[in-house]
Amino acid sequence: MNPRFDDRSFTVAIVGCGGFIGSHLLDAVLCRTKWRVFGVDLDFYRIQHRLNDERCEFVCADLADPETVARLARFPVVVNLAAICTPSRYMGEAPAVIRSNYDHPAALADACAKSGSWLIHFSTSEVYGRTGADSGVLDEDSTPLVFGPVTASRWSYATAKLLTERYIAGLSGLKWTVVRPFNFVGPYMDYMPGVDGEGIPRVLANFSTALLRGEPLKLVNGGKAKRCFTSVHDAIDFLFALFDAGSGTAQNAGVFSQVFNVGNADNELSIAELAQKMRQIYAEIRGVDIATLPEPQVVAGEEYYGTGYDDSMRRLPGVEKAERLLGFRASTPIDVCLRESLTWFVKHYSV
Ligand SMILES: NC(=O)c1ccc[n+]([C@@H]2O[C@H](COP(=O)([O-])OP(=O)(O)OC[C@H]3O[C@@H](n4cnc5c(N)ncnc54)[C@H](O)[C@@H]3O)[C@@H](O)[C@H]2O)c1
Repeated sequence: MNPRFDDRSFTVAIVGCGGFIGSHLLDAVLCRTKWRVFGVDLDFYRIQHRLNDERCEFVCADLADPETVARLARFPVVVNLAAICTPSRYMGEAPAVIRSNYDHPAALADACAKSGSWLIHFSTSEVYGRTGADSGVLDEDSTPLVFGPVTASRWSYATAKLLTERYIAGLSGLKWTVVRPFNFVGPYMDYMPGVDGEGIPRVLANFSTALLRGEPLKLVNGGKAKRCFTSVHDAIDFLFALFDAGSGTAQNAGVFSQVFNVGNADNELSIAELAQKMRQIYAEIRGVDIATLPEPQVVAGEEYYGTGYDDSMRRLPGVEKAERLLGFRASTPIDVCLRESLTWFVKHYSV
């Protein structure tokens, strides 16, 4: 069964539609006038503006629920974004993180294999594991995946995500595509602790919160680790390139049974460099001298995140495969990504 994307009755099922990526995907899908959405999440606060849209059906449900899984698998395309995916939770809640990132998606994959749905599953660039500072380009199909020890519970998330990838790839009859995101950034990324979430969010929301509160940005182990920051809008463009390619039988070989990195290799920064850039952009947005903002502060990883902290020092995505098979390349420069995200954060949380 090939989904017909130009068909009036075409509906994409999105689980995790109320999250950061989900909220952007939802808006983009609804820009296509004939498309509809079946959306599942536990939390809808980011997508309040869509709740009464007549082209959407939303269900507040848990992916752990077999009935929800069965409903999702009735649609021709299922995008799975649901996961526990904040670093501070990998340490303290490993069993829940593993259930969320392996048990639930594996059950969804089983259901999609039976129904013939195309499962687009969001994994993570964390599956590349404990990469060193001198590690090169990370290739989907040839780079070895080496994790830290079991005592470093940081790797609970990556281990569960990787097992799911292997499960999906091994499941007979499943039509699948796996996406490995590299640090997507943009509006609605995570939360502000104490306002609309608890614990430690991912680095962008973490630094944005500190800036807004006039607190020092915390550089874990000196902020030497490097990441490639990717606009969430580029990520959504990737998904549409994927949807479009998947709608024609001629291109199917390039879309199904493939893992894709989605990242912007031109946007590489160390976390210390990210902190400086964000301070600079924040000072410009606020119209203040950067010297009036607190200097970043170095903290030890285990002190900040707790026992079991570990890190990968560099994550540079290979982007050739997405370009070759889908004609996709992320192009939003880092300064544009950060200015958009920070401007949104300031406006959203200053109210
Ligand atoms: N944003 C990134 O840069 C990034 C990086 C690597 C991997 N990913 C992966 O992409 C996916 C989406 O990420 P995001 O940044 O949008 O995360 P997010 O936390 O903003 O969104 C996830 C959504 O899933 C929902 N959810 C969680 N568990 C659920 C359950 N059991 N049932 C129903 N809904 C559930 C949450 O309520 C949330 O709205 C995740 O799988 C994540 O691991 C994202």
